[in-house]
Amino acid sequence: MAKHKIIMNNVSAQIADKAILNNISLRVDDQEHIGIIGPSGSGKSSLIRTINGLLPISSGTIEIDSQTITASQPSADCSKIGMVFQDYALFPHLTVLENLTLSPTLRNENSTRDIKDRAFSLLDKVKMNGFGNRFPASLSGGQQQRIAIARCLMTEPEILLLDEPTSALDPEMIHEVKSVLEGLMQSQLSIIIVSHDISFIKTTTNRVIFMDEGKKLSDQATDLFFTQPENERQISFIQQLDH
Ligand SMILES: Nc1ncnc2c1ncn2[C@@H]1O[C@H](COP(=O)(O)OP(=O)(O)O)[C@@H](O)[C@H]1O
Ligand SMILES: [Mg+2]
Repeated sequence: MAKHKIIMNNVSAQIADKAILNNISLRVDDQEHIGIIGPSGSGKSSLIRTINGLLPISSGTIEIDSQTITASQPSADCSKIGMVFQDYALFPHLTVLENLTLSPTLRNENSTRDIKDRAFSLLDKVKMNGFGNRFPASLSGGQQQRIAIARCLMTEPEILLLDEPTSALDPEMIHEVKSVLEGLMQSQLSIIIVSHDISFIKTTTNRVIFMDEGKKLSDQATDLFFTQPENERQISFIQQLDH
């Protein structure tokens, strides 16, 4: 039986007294690829931000391997979790190479030489060879996002959280990032991706979560999600996609 990688039990979260997530339960198995979709403001980003501790929860529990996040015990060891943000979130004052090496260097787990070797091999993987000494501002959005993907792989995460990784990109740059993401989606990692790119969700995920107003309304195998919707809200969301 597949191992559960993440177990969220009745998780709620609020920001400044406003309920943002309402009683969410969710299991992610080892190597699963899960898509999160839903209207803007429905809590998709908030949901994945609770998993790596960026958004504290107000009740419930999140189990990640042997650790448990609760409202009173928010700090989790995030070393196994990598995240890619819509706006890349590179450190602007660091070079590309320094962006990649910073976190593993702070962790001090490998030699500087090993860390640099890994950085160069990941730059190669995202087709950004030769850009190590550039600063983020000198790169296109698509290039910055590929650097952000390489950076998140530096610590060899077991779980990847991708928050609308192609939403900020011009159409001509989406392709280069998507081809890197498609490679990533072939991997054995557990991946949660928030995206409005429905064809990408259909082809790269095995399960889809549908969020609306801070609630998880549906949780289905990807093919069933689009062919046998479970509720009215989901049906009207899918109908909108066709127009
Ligand atoms: N920093 C914040 N301060 C106040 N409200 C926020 C903040 N971040 C998110 N929200 C609110 O939380 C709700 C869910 O937001 P979010 O998780 O970003 O939705 P989504 O990613 O689905 O668009 C929205 O109503 C949004 O306005
Ligand atoms: Mg969002």
